[in-house]
Amino acid sequence: MTHRATLIPGDGIGPEITDAALRVLDATGVDLAWERVDAGELALERHGTVLPEELFASVRRTRVALKGPVATPIGGGHRSVNVTIRQTLGLYACLRPVRSLPGVIAPGRDVDLVIVRENTEGLYSGIEHRVVPGVVEGLKVVTAAASERIARFAFDYARSHGRREVTAVHKANIMKLSDGLFLEETRRVREEHPDIAYRELIVDNCAMQLVRRPQDFDVLVMSNLYGDILSDLCAGLVGGLGVVPGANIGDTLAVFEPVHGTAPDIAGKGWANPTALLLSAALLLDHLGEAEAAAALRRGLERVLADGAVRTRDLGGEASTEDFAATVAAAVRNA
Ligand code: NAI
Repeated sequence: MTHRATLIPGDGIGPEITDAALRVLDATGVDLAWERVDAGELALERHGTVLPEELFASVRRTRVALKGPVATPIGGGHRSVNVTIRQTLGLYACLRPVRSLPGVIAPGRDVDLVIVRENTEGLYSGIEHRVVPGVVEGLKVVTAAASERIARFAFDYARSHGRREVTAVHKANIMKLSDGLFLEETRRVREEHPDIAYRELIVDNCAMQLVRRPQDFDVLVMSNLYGDILSDLCAGLVGGLGVVPGANIGDTLAVFEPVHGTAPDIAGKGWANPTALLLSAALLLDHLGEAEAAAALRRGLERVLADGAVRTRDLGGEASTEDFAATVAAAVRNA
């Protein structure tokens, strides 16, 4: 069976790691027909906009995309391409499985947790204004509907993936109304899932406990900004941004992408670690119902990482993105 899917290579290291992912996906034998669309700086050059309408049309057509990172200028300039894609396509749940990998030396041991981040509102509403010169307000928007939806996603995910516990992360002691509403909705959803253990943690304490005992965490659900920050913290626990995958999921559409950005400091050098995008591609295969191929991809990748002879610079090796991808592709064929 042929699966149609959208490919968004993106900016910076995006095209390099996308080529690597295509090579490894090819080795799984799954028949994927890609619609390749531009986003970010390349799209601006070619189409005069960072987000061509064709990107949305393609994802709505294929319902599934593999995406590289896209740059967003700090301060002025256009709105974040990534936030706009998630909001426009209704990809309300951001899923980030964080797992210790064999052969990867990292501060955390036996980590196997999943961050579920609300993707559409919170402090990423993009609503900011200057009240008077020198005073700016940014609005944190929290709705009961979006809070309930993300809580339901987290509990359903926990149940369907054999997870034991959901931790709600918040700062309701200070943001009593906004984070308070998030907690209220999460507690209501929790009552429908008595089989799943539940606890609540204030975000700063959660950050400390994640560093000290990451193996004690299972599924964590939280609003947009906390999820953004804690995802990077958790990536650091298992070997860095090069190894953590992600998925943005809505009711009918899904976009799979790594946690990391465009890595401008190493873009074009052939040094990028494609592992995060490869693991995102494995999530995409799972989503398409190709569980065996996804498992083969993970097995092949883990074999290469465990062996350690071919690894990228961020993991202490010297291999190029291309050599690493070729080695993983060969391992996947034999997995
Ligand atoms: P970054 O994730 O691009 O880089 C942070 C550090 O991690 C850099 O030292 C980089 O070399 C390293 N790194 C990241 N991915 C790596 C990989 N696969 N292999 C080896 N090393 C890797 O974060 P930064 O510098 O804050 O952001 C750069 C740009 O990326 C910004 O324009 C930002 O807006 C954008 N961005 C895009 C995201 C997306 O498209 N989903 C997510 C995060 C940032």
